[in-house]
Amino acid sequence: MFIVEDRSKPRLSDETFHLLRDLIHKRCGIYFTDVKKYLLENRLLRRLEGRNLKSFEDYYYFLLYDPEREVEFLNLIESIVTNETSFFRDLPQLEAFRKGIVPSVMEYKQKLSKKEINIWSAACSTGEEPFTIAMILLEDDIAEKGWKVEILGSDISEKVLKSAIRGVYEKYSLRNTPERYISRYFSNSGDCYVVNQRVRQLVRYRRINLMDPLETRTVQNMDIIFCRNVLIYFNDQSKRKVLNHLYDSLVEGGYLILGFSETLHNITRLFKPVSFERSVVYQKV
Ligand SMILES: C[S@@+](CC[C@H](N)C(=O)[O-])C[C@H]1O[C@@H](n2cnc3c(N)ncnc32)[C@H](O)[C@@H]1O
Repeated sequence: MFIVEDRSKPRLSDETFHLLRDLIHKRCGIYFTDVKKYLLENRLLRRLEGRNLKSFEDYYYFLLYDPEREVEFLNLIESIVTNETSFFRDLPQLEAFRKGIVPSVMEYKQKLSKKEINIWSAACSTGEEPFTIAMILLEDDIAEKGWKVEILGSDISEKVLKSAIRGVYEKYSLRNTPERYISRYFSNSGDCYVVNQRVRQLVRYRRINLMDPLETRTVQNMDIIFCRNVLIYFNDQSKRKVLNHLYDSLVEGGYLILGFSETLHNITRLFKPVSFERSVVYQKV
């Protein structure tokens, strides 16, 4: 059988792949290894079409010099990021958060007579993670006990943040959510599940690129940071950069929660691992 090559389709040369890969890596941390060249090629083809450009070389120069380049960079990001998430993702970590981390932060803050907890969900995608955090805290009546809770949800993608602000989800996003939480914190409208006002009022959303120190510097005094399932797309160099930024945003002794399969081993010594029953989190030293 012959495979006929579509010669009308623009081709991404190795040289232009490296230029585009380095530009993307520098701006947002995501790193396309050589084996992912075809993935990047496919994802960017849509952007070439969107800008009516004939080659990947033209697209590269567009990103460098065109007056519309910043707008296009946002479009590019939307086309390459992976937004997979769900409510109550990785339950053992959430158990560690609820039973270990939150009580430890409360004890420490109580000694300082500061009854407030600041939490950052640092690559929150469509909002399931920050809303899950809010529901867990509501379940433990933290606000009723006189605590002020603020949860910041941020992401590099404006598209996912718009969806988070809407707070409307399909049943599939709730696949790991215990029934008790569904009945208490969502209202059901047709096939959709809408997050209640009580939950929403604990969370605010902002666009933040974790690679940009000018943006991350605006987030300070965080007691707990969730940065789950984003560093897997970065290489060690950009992981270190982001971890330095997160370190600066945490209070002394603050906690960092990475994705279940992510580790700081051989990346940085800025944090020490802390073990809970079925998960490991990190603490600022
Ligand atoms: C797989 S989702 C993870 C969502 C959630 N934290 C979870 O674990 O379910 C990864 C998110 O990271 C975001 N992201 C990628 N690069 C980023 C960057 N440089 N700054 C901020 N967010 C970024 C993507 O837009 C995407 O929404």
